[in-house]
Amino acid sequence: MQLSFILVFVFILPIVRAQVPHWGPCPEPAVQPAFTLKQFMGRWFEIAKLPAQFEKGRCIETNFSLTSENSIRVVSSEILKGDLRKIEGTGVIEDLKNPAKLGISYSYVLPYTPYWILSTDYVNSALVYSCTDVLRLFHVDFAWILGRTRTLPDSTIEKAKDIFAGNNIDVSRMIPSRQEGCDKTL
Ligand SMILES: *[C@@H]1O[C@H](CO)[C@@H](O)[C@H](O)[C@H]1NC(C)=O
Repeated sequence: MQLSFILVFVFILPIVRAQVPHWGPCPEPAVQPAFTLKQFMGRWFEIAKLPAQFEKGRCIETNFSLTSENSIRVVSSEILKGDLRKIEGTGVIEDLKNPAKLGISYSYVLPYTPYWILSTDYVNSALVYSCTDVLRLFHVDFAWILGRTRTLPDSTIEKAKDIFAGNNIDVSRMIPSRQEGCDKTL
């Protein structure tokens, strides 16, 4: 108990404060049925995200490519303070019975974090959710609306938010990503 207490206040709280913490364990949203990893590959632009961050880049995009039947290479880029920054990671389908539940890691020293495809048509938009339980007391989550183009119609964004909300994911603090003046990217 003592150790948990110290962990929460010294280590976890500072991280969580930057995010959007919610009491209780992670929700268990429905994910894309019959998800096909191969069709999801290629370039996706970030249209909106949760949570809001103070210092954030613009023109955020990710390029996924298959490295095997169930693993991928992930290259994300953004423009931050005028510089193009890239990070590279790996992703895996952790349980083949649940192909829409990926795990992604941006470093060898970091564990895979959940990257769940809640819904996608592969050619226009995708809804992604990531949630981590903290001591079963509360959870920290992230959600993204991705597009194959840098902008999506408002109706698509509204529908995406409805799907998140219908899965008990609070997207009231979701913010649009900036996707203008992006010619420096890939
Ligand atoms: C995405 O990655 C693939 C495989 O590495 C590469 O062939 C392709 O050019 C990349 N596309 C972009 C837009 O970076």
